[in-house]
Amino acid sequence: MIELTIDGLPVRAEKGTSVLEAAGEMGIRIPTLCHDPGLRPYGACRMCIVEVKRGNRSKLEASCTLPAQNGQVILTSSPRVQKARKVILELLISSCPNSKTLQDMAANMGLNKIRFKIKDKNCTLCGLCVRYCKEQMASGGIWFVGRGNQRRVAPAFGVMPEECRNCGGCEFICPACSRACNADNLKDGLCGGCLNCVPVETCAICVRCSESVGSTGHKVF
Ligand code: SF4
Ligand code: SF4
Ligand code: FES
Repeated sequence: MIELTIDGLPVRAEKGTSVLEAAGEMGIRIPTLCHDPGLRPYGACRMCIVEVKRGNRSKLEASCTLPAQNGQVILTSSPRVQKARKVILELLISSCPNSKTLQDMAANMGLNKIRFKIKDKNCTLCGLCVRYCKEQMASGGIWFVGRGNQRRVAPAFGVMPEECRNCGGCEFICPACSRACNADNLKDGLCGGCLNCVPVETCAICVRCSESVGSTGHKVF
């Protein structure tokens, strides 16, 4: 077993476990976008960054691709992590503002403005669709094509190959397609349609479920 410390808690994890998984087993929630437990980790979105302490120095790393190691000291929501995560989320929203997944994350993190120019590409480049197609459907219907600003998901040679099984999985798993925000009233890059309307309030026994509970709070059973 591997022994590490996450947010001050001693954690034991099996060899081969990622820091994201080790934290999850302890109930420590780290936000993710491009991660899916059924697919290989890809490390594309960087939403899952954590601070890895090494003596007086520290480094930000993506927890979904970071293997848990003996003696690691990890902070999942230090001020440095929170600040960097907000900038990453701003960048993601600037390229895909109509994803409800991203807009919900913005509300939960208290983002109130996107400072980057909105260039709606309707894709976060998370790669979930491409990995789903390859790993779950054993198909090669879609791939990443192009580089830099031109990078996008497309069928090879622009034609959907016969091996596409029309399973719809690529759409189902996509944070831009399956959870599209249609409110069409972006203000400073943020949606005011639903969750963002109301400031998130928490109840007295808050366990950070991220539901907005209003003035009455949750019932305690
Ligand atoms: S619909 Fe086609 S391209 Fe999409 S995941 Fe299924 S097989 Fe792949
Ligand atoms: S199309 Fe959707 S699932 Fe595929 S990379 Fe873009 S955002 Fe991710
Ligand atoms: S969830 Fe780890 S980089 Fe996307």
